[in-house]
Amino acid sequence: MFFRSHRVDYFISSFTKFIAGSLFIVGCLLLLTAFKYSTSSHEKLTRSGESQRSFGNFTDTHLSTNIKNGLQSIRTVETKNSKSPNIGTIKTWYKEYFPDNHFGKKVSIILGLFRKKVALHGRSLINPHNFKYIHNVPNACIGRNIELIAGIPTQTWGQYGSVPANNAVVLFFLGSKEDEALQEKINFEALKYGDIVQEHFIDSYRNLSLKTVAIMKWVSIYCADSTFVLKADDDMYINIPRLVMRLREQLKRGPVFILGAVHYNTEPFRDQKNKWFVTFDEYPANMFPNYMSGTAYAMTSTAAIRLYVESLYVRNLFLEDVYLTGIVADKAAVPRVKEADFTWGKFDPEGCNFKNKISGHKNSPEEIRKIHRELFDPNLRCH
Ligand SMILES: *[C@@H]1O[C@H](CO)[C@@H](O)[C@H](O)[C@H]1NC(C)=O
Ligand SMILES: *[C@@H]1O[C@H](CO)[C@@H](O)[C@H](O)[C@H]1NC(C)=O
Repeated sequence: MFFRSHRVDYFISSFTKFIAGSLFIVGCLLLLTAFKYSTSSHEKLTRSGESQRSFGNFTDTHLSTNIKNGLQSIRTVETKNSKSPNIGTIKTWYKEYFPDNHFGKKVSIILGLFRKKVALHGRSLINPHNFKYIHNVPNACIGRNIELIAGIPTQTWGQYGSVPANNAVVLFFLGSKEDEALQEKINFEALKYGDIVQEHFIDSYRNLSLKTVAIMKWVSIYCADSTFVLKADDDMYINIPRLVMRLREQLKRGPVFILGAVHYNTEPFRDQKNKWFVTFDEYPANMFPNYMSGTAYAMTSTAAIRLYVESLYVRNLFLEDVYLTGIVADKAAVPRVKEADFTWGKFDPEGCNFKNKISGHKNSPEEIRKIHRELFDPNLRCH
């Protein structure tokens, strides 16, 4: 008994300490793991949007998953009633996953707001955007692994004639023309090159936003699995490889963004003589939200789908860049990211001037071809 006393007591007490210590360490590890899991990723299944669209005779339930962009989305298209089989309801769920960094956290906060917003029922469709297609290219992405869709709103047709890469699709977007001779030419061009999407709304300056929304809609329906979308004016030269490089870099920080030149704290023009004159009735506030220069901006397809769905509920403004990348992007909680390589200056049309830029403005089709030829010339030498 005596014998036991110290040694055993000592043993027991150190054993208890050991157990307690181990438990403490295990507890700490568990806590750390739990903490790590709670902060290292955000994964939620959310219904992001619902909209009515016309699908022609397409009555099937369509499921598509998208596991690019660090994100998984599940889309279902359901027909509402058999009497009008061409009206379907599209429901989109997103399973979001993005790494924990500063940007990711910020995105998760805005995504939270977005979820609350889209969860609201009873919002009325004010821009159904249900124009008929005069020309369409519904199979452009089928069976292909498309990284970039370049949508070029245009007044005319056949501007570029140069395909940048085989994992990119370039499409020209037009409204309808009242000029029959012009429409004939467009029909001819559409058949010959298969790169024209023409919708049945009057193609006018005041309807410019409809063309941009047409691009977002086209991506949402026909190419939702592409990674990126570019919208560029038809007088812009775009250095596609550099653009894609920047987009891939940004994608590492989160799956939802618009990239381009950002206009901060801009006031609407209230002078009637101005080309961009906006009445108080059209825009009843004194400051525009931050928006991207409409000359060229790019985004993930995920952002494009969100912008499309949101645009159905947001009153139109003819300034397409303010509308889509400002007002609608605010409501859809899509962050705008500034990229200094997007410029809208006019540079001499030389390949070297575009080596470190993504975009340049006011170039004629001949200049665009010259820049492109020089930039992709393997013998190009720049100082
Ligand atoms: C739908 O199918 C019917 C019968 O097959 C056809 O007559 C009609 O033109 C089709 N409508 C559309 C929008 O494709
Ligand atoms: C397009 O613009 C014209 C005039 O600028 C206007 O009359 C027309 O209603 C607009 N909308 C559509 C959907 O065509």
